[in-house]
Amino acid sequence: MEDSIEVILQDQGGVFPTSRPHPIVSACTGALLTGFYAVWSLFSMPGFRKIPMKLKVPYLPSSKNQTQNVMKLLEGRRGRLADLGSGDGRLVFAASAAGFQSTGFEINSILVTYAQCKAYWGGIPSSQATFVKSDFWKTDLSSYNNVTAFLAPGVMEALEEKLLTELPEDACVISCRFPFPNWPEKSSAGSGLDKTYAYDIGTVRSHCRNPPSAASK
Ligand SMILES: C[S@@+](CC[C@H](N)C(=O)[O-])C[C@H]1O[C@@H](n2cnc3c(N)ncnc32)[C@H](O)[C@@H]1O
Repeated sequence: MEDSIEVILQDQGGVFPTSRPHPIVSACTGALLTGFYAVWSLFSMPGFRKIPMKLKVPYLPSSKNQTQNVMKLLEGRRGRLADLGSGDGRLVFAASAAGFQSTGFEINSILVTYAQCKAYWGGIPSSQATFVKSDFWKTDLSSYNNVTAFLAPGVMEALEEKLLTELPEDACVISCRFPFPNWPEKSSAGSGLDKTYAYDIGTVRSHCRNPPSAASK
């Protein structure tokens, strides 16, 4: 004879325990997850409200290899360097140690304060490394002949336009992980997620003035 529904449910009770987790365990798990989310959003979100959705880039620190690749591509260069979205300042510190007058532009005030404290405690003068709380989209970059960026694929085309308008002819632009979609790269370093791309603004401008014809592609 077929089992009644009560018998089936009783049997399954052994396989799928029906006891609920203790309310204190549930409350603690919820509180812990909320706490993690609060700390994460504190570090990744402040200042973001004023930036249009399509230009938002979250905080993700560059790896040691990425930083080394940036420095490799900057070899032989001198002068002023701007890091767009400087995070905890690691690229700015590496560039200043290599002799660049480096400025990090960062929208997240907690990260700016962290980098400023690190520079202060490390005895690094502001002539070598400066951190400014600002939206780099609204910052004039015309006095920088070196620019580094570790951003996101969705903003690279808009950044092409800004940098082409503002940077001097001898400027070099380095992008971590995400290449510029319409620019010819000068060189690259590393591979995979650590791949880093270098662009020469003079070359990019002449490429834009005389784009390769469809026939020669
Ligand atoms: C992927 S992280 C890179 C951080 C750092 N450059 C590094 O390599 O470790 C991008 C950073 O850009 C910042 N950012 C995003 N949009 C920005 C904006 N419009 N102005 C200034 N900083 C911005 C974020 O807060 C974040 O710290």
